[in-house]
Amino acid sequence: MTMIQQVFGNKVRELRIQQGLSQDELAFYCGIDRPQISKIEQGKVNVTLDTIERLSQALKIKTSLLLDETKTLHPFVKWAGGKTQLLDRLHNFMPNEFNNYFEPFIGGGSFFLNLAPAKATINDFNSELICAYKCFQDDEAIILLKEELKRHEANHSEEYYYKIRSMDKEEGFFKLPIYVRAARMIYLNKSCFNGLYRVNSKGFFNVPSGRKKKVVTFDEENFDSLREYFRNNDITILNGDFEEATKSAIAGDFVYFDPPYDVIENKNSFTSYAKNDFGKDEQIRLAMLYKKLSARGVFVMLSNHNTAFINELYKGFNIHVVNAKRMINSKADGRGDVEEVIITNY
Ligand SMILES: C[S@@+](CC[C@H](N)C(=O)[O-])C[C@H]1O[C@@H](n2cnc3c(N)ncnc32)[C@H](O)[C@@H]1O
Repeated sequence: MTMIQQVFGNKVRELRIQQGLSQDELAFYCGIDRPQISKIEQGKVNVTLDTIERLSQALKIKTSLLLDETKTLHPFVKWAGGKTQLLDRLHNFMPNEFNNYFEPFIGGGSFFLNLAPAKATINDFNSELICAYKCFQDDEAIILLKEELKRHEANHSEEYYYKIRSMDKEEGFFKLPIYVRAARMIYLNKSCFNGLYRVNSKGFFNVPSGRKKKVVTFDEENFDSLREYFRNNDITILNGDFEEATKSAIAGDFVYFDPPYDVIENKNSFTSYAKNDFGKDEQIRLAMLYKKLSARGVFVMLSNHNTAFINELYKGFNIHVVNAKRMINSKADGRGDVEEVIITNY
């Protein structure tokens, strides 16, 4: 097995998993049998140009990207509303060229990390989450974050979980170093019930413990790739309201909005990421900003549920309906396929 075969195989596996495909499904889409896919992923095959082309078509990425040796970045938290399932469609609908990238509701950041732009502004209302992103910009913080996470993994138990969970009720919590707050958030995210980040009306994280006896809180390789990415690129990280985060966007820039979803009637939809619930008024405020940015010549893409309300708010723009698999919902029967829209002004 050669190094290049191994690197190529890892890349195919990574992209396949990211797109939620089984080896059987990938084999079906590219017309290659499954045992051969398995060998390719293990780096045991010297693939032909024809195979590379078939794989890139099935994985919906450019052939050159499939051959790129740099690692694809992944979210470091499982976030409600994560866009991993929609990555290929978001890529299809993004503008061909743009200058700076803005993502004002970054959450787990699956699209941003997959895109890995050279100049970007990312933002979220959730300050714990932003502490974590900021750690990747700082050599010392990232080392301390890893140590703190290993400590949480070693101490993990139900009792320990509730002890860490209640830290935000202690005075001075918001003055703790960013790596401590980030480690707490990541640990709770990886060990809580259903991987769901939810705070109560007072702003406290209130999700019960999951059943895991052992938790793995981070992937060392991904953390190192993230550190490398944030070190080598010009990324501004903000912790505020979405409107403020797009103030500096000008013509030719690209803004992607992935706000908390508009509620689908009769579905126990999830909108409580931070203590301000994102209701109809907030959706209206966002639609007004969408129009303002459009008038400024900014490329804008937005995803949301396919509701009558959203269709009405964005009437006149390009509304593409797509199917998405919902991964997180507090009720098991809320899982399944849901229609989403990707709305563009270009
Ligand atoms: C749908 S999630 C984003 C999902 C993310 N793009 C992903 O792929 O994982 C929405 C995010 O908006 C944030 N949020 C809610 N209200 C906000 C506001 N007014 N301004 C900025 N961010 C807000 C939440 O904290 C949450 O992380």
